[in-house]
Amino acid sequence: MVHGLETECTIWHHRDVPATPTHSAETDVRPMTEGDVTAAADVWLTTTDDYRLRHGFPSTTDQEPLDEQRRRLESRIGHLRATDPGGSWVAERGGTVIGLGQAFVREKYWVLSMLGVLPAVQSAGVGKALLDRTLVHGPWDRGTIQASRDARAVRLYSGAGFDTHPVLAAHGSLRPETHGQPPPGVRPGGLEDLELVGDIDRAVRGAARPQDVTHLLKIDGCSLLIDGDDAYALARPDRIVMATGRHEAAAIRVLRAAIASAPPGGRFEVGWLTSAQQWAIPTVLAAGLDLVPHGPVMTLGMTGPPAPAIPSGGYG
Ligand SMILES: CC(C)(COP(=O)(O)OP(=O)(O)OC[C@H]1O[C@@H](n2cnc3c(N)ncnc32)[C@H](O)[C@@H]1OP(=O)(O)O)[C@@H](O)C(=O)NCCC(=O)NCCS
Repeated sequence: MVHGLETECTIWHHRDVPATPTHSAETDVRPMTEGDVTAAADVWLTTTDDYRLRHGFPSTTDQEPLDEQRRRLESRIGHLRATDPGGSWVAERGGTVIGLGQAFVREKYWVLSMLGVLPAVQSAGVGKALLDRTLVHGPWDRGTIQASRDARAVRLYSGAGFDTHPVLAAHGSLRPETHGQPPPGVRPGGLEDLELVGDIDRAVRGAARPQDVTHLLKIDGCSLLIDGDDAYALARPDRIVMATGRHEAAAIRVLRAAIASAPPGGRFEVGWLTSAQQWAIPTVLAAGLDLVPHGPVMTLGMTGPPAPAIPSGGYG
């Protein structure tokens, strides 16, 4: 859920971070309003920055300017609050937002997009209180979480009944020869392909999500790649955002096409590779990327992560 290789994280610091834990203070967990979106984004940026430092991950500001990260983050929080007000919560103390939890449901498929508590007030039950609110947003019968490596996160999700699927993430510099050679048959897509993308998602994940795909194309600046009627990928120049195929050969083709259209020699990430996504491993290794352990994918109400499918940290 922390996006990709935690790529939402920055060196941003929230202006109102409490200096010391105030565990005894009164915490109000309430629905997120439109007016909370900026404060919720501040909490997420501060929280993930601290998380990255604790886990030895580099800052992402050299990959994407802070302003652009903030713009995309606020637009994502605002989008999901608009589609799922019942899944969007904040924790507040003394008038300051100190945590957020955001989940959404598409055709009874629940996804936790974000759960974060400011570092100064962590480990005091706020994360659990927020998660509990998001879990009753429904109706849903299956769900996934792309989890961070924070031990408290996995403890919370496992305690809520989710199964844990270990993950590798691929990242590194692309070999120059991968550029500009998309597999034959893969074409650029657009909003006119929403129905096809929805059909693929339903066949593989059991749920379509046209509102999210529209947001990623129109607002988030993703490109869409389509292989026949069988697979699609949403990508940015530095990463796969999501990729789903009716079968592995088609999923491999859209993954290769996304890599081929990335800048030559540039950095690239493919996240959330559970053992269900063996099909993707030879392609990312051949492209020059390295595999590193990452936070797990958590599932509930399904036998394992949907496959072949590379999920998005924030959009499932
Ligand atoms: C993960 C996070 C949301 C949890 O929220 P929190 O308010 O800190 O955690 P809580 O106090 O609710 O405790 C959660 C669980 O961790 C346990 N816990 C608390 N402190 C702990 C610690 N220092 N070490 C290990 N476990 C701990 C709690 O006992 C609880 O488990 P339980 O339900 O089995 O009793 C929060 O720590 C955070 O924002 N982390 C950084 C961002 C992140 O990784 N977010 C999750 C993205 S998937």
